[in-house]
Amino acid sequence: MSNYSQKIFYVILGIFCISFGINAQKLITIPIETSQNALVFQTDKDNRLGTVFFGKKLVQSSDYGFISKEYKINDENSGIFNSVYTPSGTWNLVEPAIEVKHADGNSSLELKYVSHEVKKIDDNVSETVIVLKDPVYALEVRLFYKVYYKENVIEQWSVIKHQEAKNITLQKYASANLYFMADDYYLNHYHGGWAKEMKPEETKLTAGIKTLDSKLGTRANLFQPPTFMLSFDKPATEDAGKVLLGTLAWSGNFKIDFELDTYHNLRLLAGINSHASEYSLASNQDFKTPSFIFTFSENGKGEASRNMHNWARKYRILDGEGSRLTLLNNWEATYFDFDEAKLTELFKDGKKLGVDMFLLDDGWFANKYPRNGDVAGLGDWQENRKKLPNGIGYLVKEATKAGIKFGIWVEPEMVNPKSELYEKHLDWVIREPQRPEHYFRNQLPLDLSNPEVQDFVYGVIDNLFTKNPEISFIKWDCNAVVYNAHSAYLEKKGLPQTHLYVEYVRGLYKVLEKIRAKYPKVPMMLCSGGGGRVDYEALKYFTEFWVSDNTDPLERVFMQWEYSYFYPAIAQCNHITDWSKVGIKYRTDVAMMGKMGYDIVVSHLSEKELQFSQQALANYKKISDVVWHGDLYRLKNPWENPYASLMFSNATQDHAVMFSYLTTNRYDGVYSVTPVKLKGLDPKKKYKIQEINVYPDAKSSIAKDLVYSGDYLMNIGLNPDITLRRTSVVLELTEVK
Ligand code: GLA
Repeated sequence: MSNYSQKIFYVILGIFCISFGINAQKLITIPIETSQNALVFQTDKDNRLGTVFFGKKLVQSSDYGFISKEYKINDENSGIFNSVYTPSGTWNLVEPAIEVKHADGNSSLELKYVSHEVKKIDDNVSETVIVLKDPVYALEVRLFYKVYYKENVIEQWSVIKHQEAKNITLQKYASANLYFMADDYYLNHYHGGWAKEMKPEETKLTAGIKTLDSKLGTRANLFQPPTFMLSFDKPATEDAGKVLLGTLAWSGNFKIDFELDTYHNLRLLAGINSHASEYSLASNQDFKTPSFIFTFSENGKGEASRNMHNWARKYRILDGEGSRLTLLNNWEATYFDFDEAKLTELFKDGKKLGVDMFLLDDGWFANKYPRNGDVAGLGDWQENRKKLPNGIGYLVKEATKAGIKFGIWVEPEMVNPKSELYEKHLDWVIREPQRPEHYFRNQLPLDLSNPEVQDFVYGVIDNLFTKNPEISFIKWDCNAVVYNAHSAYLEKKGLPQTHLYVEYVRGLYKVLEKIRAKYPKVPMMLCSGGGGRVDYEALKYFTEFWVSDNTDPLERVFMQWEYSYFYPAIAQCNHITDWSKVGIKYRTDVAMMGKMGYDIVVSHLSEKELQFSQQALANYKKISDVVWHGDLYRLKNPWENPYASLMFSNATQDHAVMFSYLTTNRYDGVYSVTPVKLKGLDPKKKYKIQEINVYPDAKSSIAKDLVYSGDYLMNIGLNPDITLRRTSVVLELTEVK
């Protein structure tokens, strides 16, 4: 190089270095905004990306850039605490979002910001994608934030990819890693079991890690669902306080950590549970985590839940803005004991009652080991010849003749050891070949990581529809957890056994995807020995879910109340059954606050009970649009009052329904001494109030043709007059012009 060209070279290099230097100093701020809120990230001087803000959005988005300067957190280690995706093995000392073992066996990871882009999907939905890379190893993480602007919902997931010479091992792979700065944090989470789902518990988070998790494999939320509410500063109430409502959309093992760090800031890590689930990832293969979905409100839990409902109905639940079928189910009416004649009578009963559909439950299949109890037959999906000599086809015809639609129960992921399927395909069963089998409800899950099993499960549904295209509804059950997590398929393929929990769920989604490609609309209920499996990934394929096998209406008031924070009423199946001896009116009124159905022996109803039920079904037809698609407002919390009150109001605020239920047995003459303030009405509109579901010959104590303004109803209120003689009250509000 000549002297001259050398000079030119150094001048160019100098310019380059200066501009690079300036760029390196310039911090990049990435605001992710909904109509109300913002989640803001910023790079630091070393180009690591951290969360600098979460909360109500600022008027001027350029102001976000200054926030980090206001925090004087300068310890040597502190810079990593707010990482958007905390790596492990280098300088991090807190709970990581990702842990990897590289192809060469090294376990260190650093992630630096590379780029980001915002894609507009439509007027309401956009997606921000952020690319992070390890400066040493060829590994990248892409973080996705899908924003539903109007609904104030963010759906977030990550994709991990590498170009190393051999497979790497993912030891942890979170979906979300959020960071919050508040005075205090209150976590409202849930626990339960069969027939006692969704028991709430609120706790103030203290230093250390609080974990919500599941290791059950299939019906993952039996003991603990991946749903929670997190209040900032102080516990949020229905209409006040800052609260985040979050949930992981994954039908398998999950883990959600809340780590209060040394600065009293809160780190949230949510994703698949990495317990026994190390994942071997090939070069250039994407590992996509499930979505963590959350919304935030500064106005309490009620608004946050309505955000979630609006989002779920519009963007997630299958046919979330459509309608649902009322039904008569035979489970509690007959259990396994039925035949064609009995069922045909039940069709007529259903028609007499006035429901849209008859749902045939468990017990219709298997011959060598007939399904006459829960000990045999699962897996053998041929009609039982003794009970149904003419097959399902005959039943569908008879139902049609009776003027009622026909739906059917399946549990296609499972097998009883007493079945032909188990005899023929032991290698399809999740079991540890060297150890004794452990059963959950006398059954074992099939190995859905195996494509042959996926085809089999798909085939169960496809055969039913191919032979009987008129089938109008499927109830898909799942009654066992995974014990002895071992897959003969993965072993045969030389794949790690630790893939099983993840591949099971992916296998399930593949099957559901295929079913929906061929049968996009048929309503399907997600059931899992009650409410053991419900989440926002499964609900892409299902129209509704079974809340609990516990149909005691008093228990249901509480359970449905809690579920209602996360799932809209259109998705919650509530049945009127004989589980409790409480009168039919109370049972019906409770079932009406969701998708109503029956599981009773209609012929056992007294004349008045039948008359009441027929009228109630007619009323339900009138109000179901408001319940299914309207906004839910919780008015009186049954945990704090002797009765519960809640209401639904439609979008145009000209039609609303208010439900009130007494929840105590203790004597107190009158329970609703004071009026209940209504919500979600138009103050300027006038509403006619009418009590519906009044028992035959009973008189309503609510004056007929009462007309009040929305202003009056929301500021003074209305007294539903709950007494020991009026234990449940349903009021319909209709605008009068
Ligand atoms: C589960 C379901 C019930 C019923 C039975 C049938 O327990 O939750 O509703 O379908 O299975 O065996």
